[in-house]
Amino acid sequence: MKANITVLGGDGIGPEVTREGVRVLQRVAQIHGHQFVFDERDFGGIAIDRHGDPLPEDTLASCKSSDAILLGAIGGPKWSAPDAKLRPEAGLLRLRKELGVYANLRPVAVHPALENATTLKPEVVRGVDLVFVRELTGGIYFGAKTRSATDASDLCSYSAAEIERVTRVAGALALARRRKLTSIDKSNVLDTSRLWREVVTRVMKAEFPDVAVEHILVDAAAMHLIRRPSDFDVIVTENMFGDILTDEASMLAGSLGLSPSASLGDGRRGLYEPIHGSAPDIAGRGIANPVGTILSAALLLRHSLGLEDEARCIETAVARALDTGLRTADIAGGSTPSSTAAAGTAIVELLR
Ligand code: IPM
Ligand code: MG
Repeated sequence: MKANITVLGGDGIGPEVTREGVRVLQRVAQIHGHQFVFDERDFGGIAIDRHGDPLPEDTLASCKSSDAILLGAIGGPKWSAPDAKLRPEAGLLRLRKELGVYANLRPVAVHPALENATTLKPEVVRGVDLVFVRELTGGIYFGAKTRSATDASDLCSYSAAEIERVTRVAGALALARRRKLTSIDKSNVLDTSRLWREVVTRVMKAEFPDVAVEHILVDAAAMHLIRRPSDFDVIVTENMFGDILTDEASMLAGSLGLSPSASLGDGRRGLYEPIHGSAPDIAGRGIANPVGTILSAALLLRHSLGLEDEARCIETAVARALDTGLRTADIAGGSTPSSTAAAGTAIVELLR
């Protein structure tokens, strides 16, 4: 098949990891006889520097006319001054909104060879295989903001329709997995959470009666995620809780650098990015872990291009690479770490 993929390297380690993601996709195309056309565009801090806009019009146009978008990471100290007028993060939020990608899938699976890479006990993380479905285009991230010298406010609001559609994504995913859905909210305090719980309960009962549903308050969920992580299958939650808990959950797998994500809307087009940030402290040193991005490329093949076999081919190559000892600095422990490029090459060579 032929597919157009927009590549947004972004800032910091973003371009380094997306380079490896693209190499993997190119090799998959070669092996399986596809034609992937890559269109690289400026996005984030680098786009502020070059075009005065974190999401320039031509970048957005490329994203909207492509089949899928592969994104590295954005942001950095250069654009983070408290009085900064333009922020890379604003470009990312606008891109998510413009693309209508309201459901953010963030899987966390513990690879057996990495049970010891986590800061938790191996027996706690053994067998963990969960997916977060984070609501991505609503809530406090997108509410009205006010700011004066002495006061500030960020409004959190949700409509039933916004909750319904993300619940359907989570319900369908749970049905295809272990048929268990955990919904996380703060319904003992927040009205948005009370609506959330009501809508999730109604949609699941009516449309996914075979999925077991539980509701947990976000503070307790933060605890249970490190106490009994293997009990979770699919987790659905609102935007900000999802942001926070997915960083926590990624550590179950050993490193933030291993976690991929897929942001999906009603159509097939999706935005794929590792969940880590731009890591300015290690940018340009060629030591970042490209696995989160490479696994995001696998999700891209699965969800936007419908290429399940090819997606598995990448996931198998990553698993084999880890099995045979591939370790970037973030998971090296005492062993000699591989560079970003060497890790990419090792995975490319394992693709079948
Ligand atoms: C993420 C990031 C973003 C978010 C930032 C960069 C705006 O932390 O994708 O998790 O908060 O959504
Ligand atoms: Mg985050």
